[in-house]
Amino acid sequence: MDRILVTGGAGFIGSNFVHHLLAQTAARVTVLDKLTYAASREALAGLPADRVSLVVGDVADPGVVEPLVAEHDAVVHFAAESHNDNSLADPSPFIHTNLIGTFTLLEAVRKAGTRLHHVSTDEVYGDLELDDPERFTESTAYNPSSPYSASKAGSDHLVRAWVRSFGVRATISNCSNNYGPWQHVEKFIPRQITNVLAGGRPKVYGAGLNVRDWIHAEDHSAAVWTILTRGRVGETYLVGADGERNNLEVVRTILRLLGRPEDDFDLVGDRAGHDLRYAIDSTKLRAELGWAPSYADFEAGLAATVEWYAAHEDWWAPHKADVERAYAAKGQ
Ligand code: NAD
Ligand code: TYD
Repeated sequence: MDRILVTGGAGFIGSNFVHHLLAQTAARVTVLDKLTYAASREALAGLPADRVSLVVGDVADPGVVEPLVAEHDAVVHFAAESHNDNSLADPSPFIHTNLIGTFTLLEAVRKAGTRLHHVSTDEVYGDLELDDPERFTESTAYNPSSPYSASKAGSDHLVRAWVRSFGVRATISNCSNNYGPWQHVEKFIPRQITNVLAGGRPKVYGAGLNVRDWIHAEDHSAAVWTILTRGRVGETYLVGADGERNNLEVVRTILRLLGRPEDDFDLVGDRAGHDLRYAIDSTKLRAELGWAPSYADFEAGLAATVEWYAAHEDWWAPHKADVERAYAAKGQ
C-alpha cells in the first residue's frame, strides 16, 4: 500500500492517523478534507510535501472523489460530522457527510476496486446500563440514539451491503471515545481542560454519571493501520482500551491535574437522549490481529493531554468564545 487516501485527514483523529502513517510506514498520503469548522490545517503543518498532499473537497462530491480514489491503493474514511450535540441542533450536515459521503465513496471504490477501511464508532450500539456486566462486541445489535450515531450506523450498513452485494474490499472499525492532542474544544475533555485554563469551570451534563470508554487517538490510529493491513475483508473490529470512567471522575482528574479543587465544576442541563454508558470488548482485534493499546494508563494520557492544551492556547483560544456562546445559549 504505497498510496493512501485519508478522508477527514485534517480532523482530530484523521490528522493523528496521517502522522502515524508518516512515522510508521513509507506510504504517500493524500488527505481529502472539506476543511469544516472541525478541521485544522495546523495539525498537518510541517509534514514533508513529497509524502503528504491536501485536496480540499467534499467526500460527497463524486467529481472529486472518483478520480482521487482511482489513483490510490487504499482509502481510510474518517470524514464525518462527529459531534452529538451539533447533530441535535441540526442533523442535516450529518446526513450529507456521514450517509451521502460514505455512499459516494463506496461507489468510487466499487468502480476502482480500491481497498477501503471505514472508521466508525461504538455509539451505533446505543447504550448499556451502568451495572450491565456485558460490553459491546462485534455481534451486539445496532440501536443508535442520536442523529449522529444513527447516521454512522447507516454508513456502517452501507459498507456491509457494498461488501456483500458488490464484493467491495472493505473493513469496519467501531471505536470508543478518543482523547488526545488536536481535539476540537467543543468535545468533552478539551472543553473542560480549556474551561479551567481560561479561568472558568468545567460543565458536566446531568448528574455526571454517564460512562465513556476512553482511548488515546494514537492507539486508535495504530488499530486502524493494523486492520487495514492485516484485517479480514468484510469483517468488523471493535477498538477499545478498557478505559471506562464516568464524567465526574474525568472532570475531577482534570481539576486535580490543573491544581484546582475537585468540586470546582458546574452541573448543567443534560443532553437530550444522552447515552448512559459505552464499553468495548476488543478481544477480537487483540486476539486475531495482535493489537494492544500503548496508553494503558488513562490518567497518564490525560495528564499529557492537559499539558498539550496548556502549551497550545494559540490554537484553541480563537474558537473557544464561539463554542462557549453556543453552549451557554442552550444552558450548558
Ligand atoms: P472531527 O470532527 O475532528 O474531524 C472530521 C473531519 O472531517 C474534519 O477535518 C472535517 O473538515 C472533515 N469533513 C467533514 N465533512 C466533510 C466532508 N463532507 N467532506 C470531506 N471532509 C469532511 O472528527 P474526529 O473526532 O476526528 O472523528 C473522525 C472519525 O472517527 C469520524 O468518522 C468519527 O465518527 C469517528 N470516531 C470518532 C470518535 C471520537 O471519539 N472522536 C470515536 C470513534 C469513532
Ligand atoms: P462528547 O465528547 O460529546 O462525546 P460523546 O457524546 O460522543 O460520547 O461527550 C462525552 C461525555 O461527556 C458525554 O457523556 C457527554 C458529556 N459532556 C458533558 O458532560 N459536558 C460537556 O460539556 C460535553 C461536551 C459533554
